[in-house]
Amino acid sequence: MSSSASASVSSLLSSRRKGYSLPAGLYTQSDVFEADMKVFFKNHWILIGLECEIPEPGDTQVVDIGSSSVILTRDDDMQVRALHNVCRHRGARILNTGATVISKLVCPYHQWTYEPTGELIHAPHMGVDFDKTCRSIKPVALRSVGGLLYVCLGDNPPKDISFLQDVMEERLAPYGLRDAKVAHQVDVIEKGNWKLTMENNRECYHCVASHPELCVSFIDLDFGFDLESMNEEDRARAQKHMAEHAERERRWEAEGFKSCAVERVIDCETNFRTQRLAIAGGGESHTPDATAACAKLMGTMTRKDLGDTHLWGHNCWNHFMGDHVVSAMVIPLTADTTLVRTKWLVHKDAVEGKDYNLDKLTSVWIATTNQDADLVARSHAGVLDPSYEPGPFSKFTEKQLDNFASWYVQRMQAHGY
Ligand code: FES
Ligand SMILES: [Fe+2]
Repeated sequence: MSSSASASVSSLLSSRRKGYSLPAGLYTQSDVFEADMKVFFKNHWILIGLECEIPEPGDTQVVDIGSSSVILTRDDDMQVRALHNVCRHRGARILNTGATVISKLVCPYHQWTYEPTGELIHAPHMGVDFDKTCRSIKPVALRSVGGLLYVCLGDNPPKDISFLQDVMEERLAPYGLRDAKVAHQVDVIEKGNWKLTMENNRECYHCVASHPELCVSFIDLDFGFDLESMNEEDRARAQKHMAEHAERERRWEAEGFKSCAVERVIDCETNFRTQRLAIAGGGESHTPDATAACAKLMGTMTRKDLGDTHLWGHNCWNHFMGDHVVSAMVIPLTADTTLVRTKWLVHKDAVEGKDYNLDKLTSVWIATTNQDADLVARSHAGVLDPSYEPGPFSKFTEKQLDNFASWYVQRMQAHGY
């Protein structure tokens, strides 16, 4: 469809039928992509980094989000800062994308020099009466949620991030994310729209058929099932699992480990869900045999049997386990390509080859991420086909996709589309 023949963004949004996947144009049109970037990646909170990636003063990460670029750095007082990567002279990018270490932020163009706080301290040949105080690098709204760095690029960051913080600070405290290290990182560029990436992540309907490695430790039943249509054996298995899950959750809660599901997925600005779920098989971790990959446990954890606390939002998914953490963030690149950046965290003192084996630590989610990338590419190719029409979600296994689609439409409309 040429852009002149494209359905308008607002008519596509209002044509969305509840209980069904989105109209094709919402996944494929470039004007929708631009609107998505503005609404969801500028004016909502997004996860873009981790405190433990910048543990010392001067440690810096630069992350690009659409046409924006954000500097995450730690200042001399150990405060984490988020700054727009735009020089206040004539706008040049100050730093290149990726990791670096700075003492000051020096623009390579004309050497305007800033403190890691963003304060301009040196601007040669600008005259003795030049007022540097109003030329600090613009800050970006930043919240650390238990060590997960969320930013909002817009001028009016949603206030309900405080609820996410209230819920997650307590749950994340024992994992000591601020005292962790990134043991491994993998970037995958999926050939699909970011909403297909997120939809794929919000259901486990596809897990048994597509993720043999993950299904050793992951229990697809935790993500919904249709009891009535099951055969007797499967029904008995599902009922047994749910009874065991309820008992385990009761025990964890009684022992002081928050486990119950908390979700804000509709009628809210900041979209998230968390719950502590049991791990199958060896019961400890997302590894090939479901036993812990790292002998040194996260933070102050003393037990490996506390399951998998998951947290997802509209651009991330995270799994917090006793021995390690998997944290994935999603940044759209174009309407049909999406960066999925996955990081594996262990305790900062854990030593590769002694405390953990990198292959055991990473192989399950590397396989899963590659399998998901294939599924997302397959989905995107299908929605581009002129014969595509929105299809029905399973109300048992795809309830969260319906919620996501409804939230997506709500938020777009709230921003004037
Ligand atoms: S653009 Fe940065 S110093 Fe000139
Ligand atoms: Fe998957």
